[in-house]
Parts: sequence; structure tokens; C-alpha cells
Amino acid sequence: MQDLIASSLKYQNNTLSVLDQYLLPHQQVWHECDDVASMRGLILSLKIRGAPLIGLGASLLVAHLAEQGTAKVALAQAIDDLEATRPTAVNLMHCMAKLRIALQQDDYVTAIVTAAITLFNEDIALCESMANHGAVLVNSGDNILTHCNTGALATAGIGTALGVIYKAQQRHGDIHVWVDETRPLLQGGRLTAFELERWQVPYTLICDNMAASLMAAGKIDKIFVGADRIAANGDFANKVGTYNLAVLAHFHHIPFYVVAPLTTLDVNTACGADMEIEQRNSAEVRGVSGSFGEALWAPTNANVYNPAFDVTPAKLITGWVLDTGVYDQQQVLAGKLKDLN
Ligand code: MRU
Repeated sequence: MQDLIASSLKYQNNTLSVLDQYLLPHQQVWHECDDVASMRGLILSLKIRGAPLIGLGASLLVAHLAEQGTAKVALAQAIDDLEATRPTAVNLMHCMAKLRIALQQDDYVTAIVTAAITLFNEDIALCESMANHGAVLVNSGDNILTHCNTGALATAGIGTALGVIYKAQQRHGDIHVWVDETRPLLQGGRLTAFELERWQVPYTLICDNMAASLMAAGKIDKIFVGADRIAANGDFANKVGTYNLAVLAHFHHIPFYVVAPLTTLDVNTACGADMEIEQRNSAEVRGVSGSFGEALWAPTNANVYNPAFDVTPAKLITGWVLDTGVYDQQQVLAGKLKDLN
């Protein structure tokens, strides 16, 4: 397979490598990966993360295995096993569905490799289109709040919500970003801060519970977030804490946009209540860990509730920024998303 290079995922000289997002920003460690168990481990531990990227990482691994001569039946099993790793982000299912179709071809090795390369290159183009559509919504001098990490680390391209912010900064040069740290796993504090710094976009890091007072003080003009799955009715799942922001934005009359490629749209899921929400390990809430070590602050056996995502209802969303354009609430509530798939 040809070389494919993204910020946190690369296929180079027949080797698949993943930048460890658990260790960022203080350590930059790449892991080579050539088997399903390792890729599952990398995805489960969020070393590779972000809805588009987990689908692409899994796809490149299957393509690599196909090229290495892995038997058809084992490839089918690999696709099933990888798909079962994280249940909420639909991009992974979308990618695995494409590979299953490729596996039915006579020359399934070529078909799988072609499908994986296409998915990777498509994602770069989708990011660019979303960023162009979304940047139009941003005015010079805007203060934008974002949650989790939706940048180049989470995609093959420049990202979803963070791609919009990056593009807006390129156009206006005076954008400022409020970055939610995004407990429990700190994708904002670790990763979005790292990317904005690298891109030289001015930002201020806040704890998640500080957004309300900033909104009340008139310091947030717009909110842009990503999505892990958008239902046919426009409800969407994203990193836990997104729903809080949408409720706050509604109260304070602040425009709230979700940015995602069509690969995140799942018209087979009617509404948010039908989405499976991944529940994660209690240790993530009882303390914190990363390149800096491990801390446990709660009682060792404290009861914990730890959903990775929450669902934001369509009625709280100002606009859906997709690669095909921006759709407002009236269009989406009238069923527009169903026509797009
Ligand atoms: O658990 P994560 O870090 O994979 O969650 C990521 C998010 O919720 C992102 O907002 C979403 O995947 C969009 S990334 C372009």
C-alpha cells in the first residue's frame, strides 16, 4: 500500500503507526501496529481516538493484513472485532461496512486496499469542505468555545469543529478559542490546547464548569463541537459535557453548531435515544492518568458513572455544519438529513 500520512496516523514503508494521544502533549510516542489485538488495545485506551480516526486506523490495519496474505475468513473476523471496539462513533461502522463490501470482490486484497486509501483521502477532503462551510459562520474577533478534541489529531485532515476554527483564524487572524478541558480524559486540555498552540491560534483553557459564567459575562460568541453520531432527526452524540453546553447556549442565546462529515450521519438511527452510549472504566473518574503519572483522589471503591458521550437534542442546535453545507434547525427538523445519506 502507498504511504499515507496524517497528524496521528501513518502508513509508511508498509508499517502502520499511531501517535499515542494518551501521552500527548508532553511525550510524542508512535506505536507500530500490525495485529487486531494491538489495534483494539490502542482504540480502547484512546491512544488512537476521535470518530473519523478510529475508523481509518482500523481500515488501514485491515488493508495491511490483507496485503500480508491474511485469509479471507480471518479478515472478516478482523473487521467484526475492530467494529466491536467502541460502540458510539458510527464512522467506525461506516468504514467496516465499506471493507465488508470490498471483501466480497474476487480480488478482495486490491478492493480492500483501495477502499482503505479512498476512506483516508476522502476524510481529508471532507474536513476541508466542512471547514470552508463553517468558517463563513465566524466573524472577525469571535470568541469560540469548543469541547473535546476535533482537530487534525482526530481525523486524517484538519479536523471537524477545530478545522472550522483553524480556517476562520486563517481568514480573520483574530479569533480566540475557549478550550473546555473535557473531563474525564482531558482531550481538550491535553490535545486541543496542543493543536491550537501548534497552529498559533490564541486560546484559553478552562475547566468544564467555567463555561456558564463566561456565557453570562458575554465572553462566548459561538460554540463549535464535533459529533460521534448524528441521528436522522438531527440529535447527536458527542463527548460527555456537550449537552451541558447546548443547554447553557440555549439559555444565553449563543449560536451552537455541530460540525461533522456525512460519515458521521446515521440515518438508520432515528433519534438520540436509540444510540448506544459507551460506558467506560471507573478509574477514569476516580482519578487521572497520563504522561505525568497517575493520581487517585476518590475513595478506591467510589461508585462511578462514566458515559463517554451524551446526546444533544436537535431542538438545541443552531446549525449542522456538514461537508455538503450548513443546515439550520428548520431544515433538519423537517427531515433534511434523511435526504443526504
Ligand atoms: O472518546 P473520544 O476522544 O474518541 O471522543 C471524541 C469526540 O467526542 C469528538 O468530539 C468526535 O469524535 C469528533 S472528532 C472529529
